[in-house]
Parts: sequence; structure tokens; C-alpha cells
Amino acid sequence: MLTELLAFDDPAFIADPYPVLAEIRETTPIFRNERTGQWMLTRFSDVAETLRDRRLGRAYHHKFTDAEFGQEAPDQRWQHFLQHEQWSLLSLEPPDHTRLRRLVSKVFTPRSVAQLRPALDATSARLIDTCAEQDTFDLLADFAQPYSVAVICSLLGVPDSDTQLLLDWSHAIVKMYELSASEEVQQRADRAAGEYIAYTKALIAEKRERPDDLLVSKLVQVEDAGDTLTEAEIVSTVMVLLEAGHEATVNTIGNGFRALFHHPDQLARLVGGEVDGQVAVEELLRFDAPLQMFERWVLEDGVEIAGQPIPVGDEVAMLFGSAQRDPRRFEHPNTFDVARNDSSHIGFGGGIHFCVGAPLARAELAVSIDRLVARFPNLTLVEEPSYHPTFVIRGLQELRVSP
Ligand code: HEM
Repeated sequence: MLTELLAFDDPAFIADPYPVLAEIRETTPIFRNERTGQWMLTRFSDVAETLRDRRLGRAYHHKFTDAEFGQEAPDQRWQHFLQHEQWSLLSLEPPDHTRLRRLVSKVFTPRSVAQLRPALDATSARLIDTCAEQDTFDLLADFAQPYSVAVICSLLGVPDSDTQLLLDWSHAIVKMYELSASEEVQQRADRAAGEYIAYTKALIAEKRERPDDLLVSKLVQVEDAGDTLTEAEIVSTVMVLLEAGHEATVNTIGNGFRALFHHPDQLARLVGGEVDGQVAVEELLRFDAPLQMFERWVLEDGVEIAGQPIPVGDEVAMLFGSAQRDPRRFEHPNTFDVARNDSSHIGFGGGIHFCVGAPLARAELAVSIDRLVARFPNLTLVEEPSYHPTFVIRGLQELRVSP
């Protein structure tokens, strides 16, 4: 019954999952999804605790074989995709995760983010100028996408002329993370991963020849008590930074501005200067989560969530969008209040996989909100947008607006 309600493939559910999520969340904190074989978590406190519980992990290969976990071995037809994921922070658990994250964090400091601020301002101003010349524009394709990809590429040290290539690869690859990716989608993702790996290897070779002070170059040079990153680790890291860093930021701008258009009183608070982007960003992340679900494997005996014992080898799926609207945690959770300023939501996760790019994402989003409302005080929605038919990465197809 609850499994049927959670219709991940139904466009009507994706368009507005919140009433269904509320119904399930108020019925139960946890239930077994018969279709996916996962335990679904609906409430904030259980999701927040599970994110921090070291007895669960994003991966299990550091402890168990696929057979021991009752899982099929990864499909070797998608070897480029598998190769690109192999050393991604998101596919690792301690001790590899700890070692890699320490090395990546060394070059991904708040100082590097602060240094990017002029680039954020300049890039957003340039794109907004182009948007201003049009009668209507797509806030996603004309602003959010080129903006977020340009920011990451400038952080990494990827030439401007290659950003579109990276964008296309990233779009194709992330489709692999949806619950039911078709054969064709998987083929396209694998091809994109192969091309992207070759590109990144060439970029690494070039940075070895001509180092600069940008991220790929720093990853090549990083050393920590004699430890260094291998080429395969750098390739995975560069790819995960673009994928993880790009899509969620774009969708936060899209979902967030859609919410603002649906709540003109809140948009007016931003336009009038009562609330600024830095404050509003927390509510944009909470109200319509760009990432709706994350999963964990149970790796140790004795795990019990919301009174339900869960054996080793089972998988737990955390419904972020549901948790972020949990009335036990947020007062009036369905009210969109840009001044709520509650930064302890789980939009950036929690525990050891907490988003390494959160300071950058917050800065990017704050700059874009502030600049867009300052330049376009009369920004209006031209037509009601539709969501992509994907639930895990939740975002709009287009957001057509008039300046
Ligand atoms: C609004 C934008 C963003 C959102 C909502 C977001 C959200 C998240 C979440 C929820 C996680 C944890 C996943 C889990 O626990 O399973 C995560 C991890 C991660 N994010 Fe972000 N993120 C955003 C932007 C960025 C940016 C801009 C970057 C980098 C440039 C980035 C890089 C990463 C990386 C590398 C990880 C993996 C960290 C690890 O496993 O140690 N993210 N992000």
C-alpha cells in the first residue's frame, strides 16, 4: 500500500511529492518498499541519525563481496562508468574515504572558496547581462547551468571553451543514479564516462607540464605525509566534483525560484532587501529539495531504526524531501519562509559524507539570488514549469521568465 503511494515513475507524484510524502511520514517513520527492496525512512530525526551512524555506509565493498551481500556483481558492460566511480568520495568508506577526503579537503578549503567570490560576481553579472537583452529567458539554461558549470570549471582549472563538453557528459552520467535507468540511458552514461575519463587524463598530463594554482593542478601536487593521489583517484575526484557540484546547485536555483514565484510575498522580501540571498538559501534548500533520496547499506549487526531491527546487507533509503518537511523538526513545515534561516537542515547531508562543496554551493546560490533580484525586480514566470521525470535528482526542465 505505502509502496504504491511512493510512485517514483509517476509524473504526477514527481510534480508534487509532498502531500504523498506527508501521508506516509505521518503513517510511519519506516517501511519496507516492496518494489525496491529498501527500508524507507520518512522522518527528520531518523534520517539525521542514520547519516551519522557509522554502522551504515554508502558502499560495502571494503567489507563484503557482492555475493555476501546478495547483490549481483556490477555489470562490466558499463566499465567506464564503474571506473569513474571507483575512487569517488561518494563510493568510498573508511579507511580509503578518510585518506582521500583529507587530501581533497586540503585543496578545497574555505579560503579557496573565498578567493572565488570575484569570479562568482563576474560570471553571474555577465550571464545576467545576456539574459537582460531577451524578452524572455530560461533561468536554468541561460543562467543557472552556465553559471554553476563555469564556477566549477574555474575552480578546477578547466578551460572555458570545454565547459559545454563537461556539462553534456555530466548530464548523461548522473542519469545512472535514478532508480530505473533504461539500457539506452546506461549506454549513453558509459560512453560519456569514457570520454570524460580520457579528457581528464589529458588535463592531468597538461597540468603536470604546466602547473597553475587551480584545483586539478593542486590535486596533482598534493602530498600528505608522503601520501599522494593516484591518477585514477584524481580522475574520480574531478568527475565527482563536477557532477555533485553542478546538478544540485542548478536545481536549487530552479526549484527555489519556482517556489518564489508561487509565493510572491516572499519574492518581494528579497527584492525589497528585507532578506538577503545568504539567509534565503537555507529555505530554498529545505523547501523543495534538489536531492530527494540517499541510500545506505547496513554493515554491522544490531542496527535498529525507529524500533525496526535491520539486518546486515539490507539497504536503507532516506527520503530527504520528506524529512525536510517533518513537522516534528520544522514549525509550519509547508510554509515557505525565506527568513527562516535554519541552516541545520540535512540538505547537505551529515556525518562523514557531508557535502565537501557546501561552502561553495552556499556562496554560489547567495550571489545568484542577490544579483538576480537586484537586476530584475519585476522578474515574472512566463509559464508554469514541469519537472524532469526523475525523483532522486529533482529539478525543472525549464524555467521561462520575463525580466
Ligand atoms: C545546492 C548544492 C548542493 C547540494 C544540495 C549538495 C548536497 C550534497 C549531499 C546531500 C551530500 C551527501 C550525500 C550522502 O551523504 O550520501 C553531498 C556530498 C558531496 N558533495 Fe554536495 N551538494 C551541493 C553542491 C556541491 C558542490 C558545489 C560541490 C563541489 C564543487 C559538491 C561536492 C560534493 C562531494 C564531493 C560530495 C561527497 C563528499 C563525501 O562523500 O565525502 N556538492 N552533497
